[in-house]
Amino acid sequence: MRILMINGPNLNLLGERETAIYGHKTLKDIEREVIDYAKPLGIDVIPYQSNLEGIIIDLLHYAHHENMDGVILNAAAYTHYSYAIYDAIKAITPPVVEVHLSDPSTREEAFRHTSVIKEACVETFQGNHIDSYLAAVDFLEKHNV
Ligand code: DQA
Repeated sequence: MRILMINGPNLNLLGERETAIYGHKTLKDIEREVIDYAKPLGIDVIPYQSNLEGIIIDLLHYAHHENMDGVILNAAAYTHYSYAIYDAIKAITPPVVEVHLSDPSTREEAFRHTSVIKEACVETFQGNHIDSYLAAVDFLEKHNV
């Protein structure tokens, strides 16, 4: 099984960005832990990060054209307003799982309380830091059997 893992804007700064909310792990730490968790399950996780909406859309299309078995997507702030990413998720065949390190629905800023991509995704895991990503791996594994 092959899963594309896409992390969106500002997640390249994990480990130094708002650590009280996002924790001390770097993106490299998270990518390594998810890859290592998935490997014994027979799953190859291919990680990408981009700060650009169009590149995230191109990556979703890439997962589709490569016949990947699923996508783990932390669209970061795009979660809350990108209908273009919503449309891309709807357009592709691989199931997309939405993940977040924090729980945006309980955070102070009202704009975080809405995910415009949620309805296009097969599942959402949020608020559990790295465990949100690991839960997404488990979900996609079960989804594919
Ligand atoms: C985030 C939550 C978003 O609201 C925020 O814009 C992010 C990170 C998370 O993983 O908790 O950049 O997606």
